Amino acid sequence: MPHETTLIATVAVGFVLAFIFGFLADRFRLPPLVGYLIAGIFLGPFTPGFVADPSLSGQLAEVGVILLMFGVGLHFSISDLMAVKWIAIPGAIGQIVLATLLGVGVGTIWGWSLGGSLVFGLSLSVASTVVLLKALEERNMLPTANGRIAVGWLIVEDLAMVVALVLLPAFAETLGGHAASGHGAEAAADGSLAITLGITLAKVVGFVVLAIALGPRVVPWILGQVARTGSRELFTLSVLAVALGIAYGSAVIFGVSFALGAFFAGVVLSESRFSHRAAHDSLPLQDAFAVLFFVSVGMLFDPSILVREPLAVLAVLAIIMVGKSLAAMLIVLVLGYPLTTAVTVAASLAQVGEFSFILAGLGAALGLLPKEGSDLILAGALLSITLNPLAFVVAPGLIRRLSAWSALARHGEHRYRALEADLEAAQARAQEREHAHVLEVQQVVQRFPIFADIDPEQRQEFLLLFKPRSANPGERIIQKGDKPDGMYFISSGKAAVDTDAGEVALGPGDFFGEMALLSGSRRTADVTALDYCELLTMSRRDFLQFLARNPGLRQRFTETASQRSEVNRRGHAEPSPTGMA
Ligand code: CMP
Repeated sequence: MPHETTLIATVAVGFVLAFIFGFLADRFRLPPLVGYLIAGIFLGPFTPGFVADPSLSGQLAEVGVILLMFGVGLHFSISDLMAVKWIAIPGAIGQIVLATLLGVGVGTIWGWSLGGSLVFGLSLSVASTVVLLKALEERNMLPTANGRIAVGWLIVEDLAMVVALVLLPAFAETLGGHAASGHGAEAAADGSLAITLGITLAKVVGFVVLAIALGPRVVPWILGQVARTGSRELFTLSVLAVALGIAYGSAVIFGVSFALGAFFAGVVLSESRFSHRAAHDSLPLQDAFAVLFFVSVGMLFDPSILVREPLAVLAVLAIIMVGKSLAAMLIVLVLGYPLTTAVTVAASLAQVGEFSFILAGLGAALGLLPKEGSDLILAGALLSITLNPLAFVVAPGLIRRLSAWSALARHGEHRYRALEADLEAAQARAQEREHAHVLEVQQVVQRFPIFADIDPEQRQEFLLLFKPRSANPGERIIQKGDKPDGMYFISSGKAAVDTDAGEVALGPGDFFGEMALLSGSRRTADVTALDYCELLTMSRRDFLQFLARNPGLRQRFTETASQRSEVNRRGHAEPSPTGMA
């Protein structure tokens, strides 16, 4: 195959096979993700037939990780996490420790180094956010308190893994591997672990502080500017530019992982009014690249491990599906939450996914994790993701059975209720914020009848076009003969238009300034505030662009302008067509 087309071939064959196997998986009532992994196995070097370029697919997978983490950040609500923090933080950390210890134990028995066993244990301790979100969504459990505990728990796990990813290269040599080439390697070379660690942490902290301090100001501002242009394409592009730009930039400048950078890009956006639109616009790309991510993971998998070491695979599967779940259940119960929560969290965690692959990849690159370890992690991931739906099927029965035990039946009820109330309050606050925004649009539309049937899709950007301004009694707002700068809409107060035909009073709901803007000539009359006026203004450029996208509206403004100039020409003023309230 000609070299230039390898990228196209990798993407094309990847998508086609992923589609076929994803569809088949769905037919067998398995998550499509299982199909993508299988497609990857067929594309990989361990099976006959077409072999995709591993370095290319690895890079495509990295884009997938960036977009996935960006999505996780976008859906990350700090207030939700705060509401579940007393269970999610100690739970996730406790469970990571227990599961890692299990992994370290098994790795040590198999004769691996401490570093290798540690990477192995960590990889098995973290569940897949992508798989969990899909599982909860399918079962309508995402909005429930249990669902949100599980999501919060996984976010804490993800964050812990991000820290692990950053620290691992610094510790690689101490743990018996070799230093990574690139970031951190120089410092590790002089043997001073404390310095390496200090530098690494300082970089991460520097990045986080910058992201929190600057991000929420700069990023929504940029998106606001883009939204005003009304171009859907540019908006989607700006979302992608922010996600990939921050991820790449932070990796280059701060040595922070792509994943962390992308996650923060999402978090920064999640608090802005554009979060829904950004999530909506970037979803198709997120989906597409996530597919390539899973395909490329499948490519690394050597299926012969299932035959070569069936017992080891079973042990890994037991750690993931039984060990981890039991640990999580126990922790939830000890923390004083009810059985349903314990079982839901346990079922949600009974798989491993994206972070395990990333960790395993890094562990192998640092010379810590033996090849066999990567294979086992991949086998465990493939099998546990496939079997995960089973955990949700078993869960209700388990709850019923265990509830028969009177001691457990009422356990933790009041805590759960309190948490539910907290979550509801957090949600109500979020809705209120959103509602306040929606109302604003409605108010503008109600106040200015000319906007009555503006396309609901455009309402978001529409609001961005206005800037509030006030005028004191007697203040000249528009001067006859001036070059036009913008449009004026009267929210409250009265203004007088001084035409050749006499004075015309305008009031709330009226607008002025359209004549010069539409004709491209100079202002036709003086406009003066009669009393204290609150106005909404729109710049000339925004107004004209907005009309270009809304021909119906343009027509109405043009009609009003010609009626007004007709009145002025005929020499006697009549009340304005929109009328004073
Ligand atoms: P423009 O010419 O840009 O600036 C002065 C504005 O006064 C003008 O646009 C109209 O919006 C407004 N105006 C002019 N004549 C009348 C009129 N007869 N009735 C109401 N408004 C008017």
